[in-house]
Amino acid sequence: MFNALKEQPADKILMLMEMFKADDRPTKIDLGVGVYKNAEGVTPVMRAVKAAEKRILEEQETKAYTGLAGDPAYGDAMVSLVLGDAVARSNVAAVATPGGTGAVRQAFELIRMANPGARVFVSDPTWPNHLSILKYLGMEVVSYRYFDSETGGVDFGGMMADLKGLRAGDVVLLHGCCHNPTGANLNMTEWKAVIAAMTAAGAVPMIDIAYQGFGDGLEADAAAVRLVAASVPECLIAASCSKNFGIYRERTGLLMAVAQDSGLHAVTQGNLAFLNRQNYSFPPDHGARVVSTILTDDGLRADWMAELEDVRLSMLGLREQLAAELQRLSGSDRFAFLAQHRGMFSRLGCSGEQVEALRRDHGIYMVGDSRMNIAGLNKTTVPILAKAIIDSGI
Ligand code: LMR
Repeated sequence: MFNALKEQPADKILMLMEMFKADDRPTKIDLGVGVYKNAEGVTPVMRAVKAAEKRILEEQETKAYTGLAGDPAYGDAMVSLVLGDAVARSNVAAVATPGGTGAVRQAFELIRMANPGARVFVSDPTWPNHLSILKYLGMEVVSYRYFDSETGGVDFGGMMADLKGLRAGDVVLLHGCCHNPTGANLNMTEWKAVIAAMTAAGAVPMIDIAYQGFGDGLEADAAAVRLVAASVPECLIAASCSKNFGIYRERTGLLMAVAQDSGLHAVTQGNLAFLNRQNYSFPPDHGARVVSTILTDDGLRADWMAELEDVRLSMLGLREQLAAELQRLSGSDRFAFLAQHRGMFSRLGCSGEQVEALRRDHGIYMVGDSRMNIAGLNKTTVPILAKAIIDSGI
């Protein structure tokens, strides 16, 4: 049987992790996988996470199964963190999932169950695993223009022109904040126009929000998701706790299905629970319990918010330093977009050959499409990167 298996294409981001590990140059710089690192290159366990884990260890009396939707306290806390009071809780069906990827996967499966002919519109570019999962599930993908490599911003005209091709029942996948891989984001006026285009066509938005708190702050980063949820009849939201709680390996995510018609809540909730049961039965609980412990305790929540804000500001500071250094070395403003981008990533906008040269000649690792993880830098390595960029003729 196994001899019938074909080689699968390597995941470009994960492959880069392995290449970086194998490089023995002490000066190497990892700007690959989307994991936050502090100035010492460490991905720390956040203070509030440590405290919550300690509390759970001391107080938890059972490891018996939770429900198929996960711990209800986690669902409530996360719905509130992402959606605030944009919609009534009774209009939101929600299930815990293994990470944000689990939420994305379950969302695609729900779409396919409800409307097997649905086409999924995705930004060009998008997170490669969106495309990989959609292909694996045999779903039709249509890409819409998104990134303007001339300006480093959003090609909003191109995006709106491509959304004119939407038909009723199509799904539009959007990044709630901190677009991965480009770092370029819609402003609120543009979000309103996108919502109007989707509503006019009868298309359903699906929002992937994996970096809430990494862009302009916890509330500002949720503003677009909240506006969408309050404006459209139905939408799907896949949220991740991997980055903003720093609990990557605990696999903690939430899928929300919002309907203005609360009469649909029971059947939607039932379908989400069914999908969990088919794929892995009960979702993982540890990370979810850490998150709900933090979000429901005033002290832990305040400490988590303060540490998250430090993380956000440190990335913003590195962006500004990099843009200023490149301005100085190039004598031009052509890298100013790096300071305007938000979140963990920026697409530098150079060729695959130049990305390879940076890796070969300077030990600088970024994804082949020139996506850089800004958190992989520190104050000392920013000038090294800037010089390598200019020396490579970018
Ligand atoms: C990334 O984009 O680097 C992260 O979301 C990690 C991953 O799973 O790809």
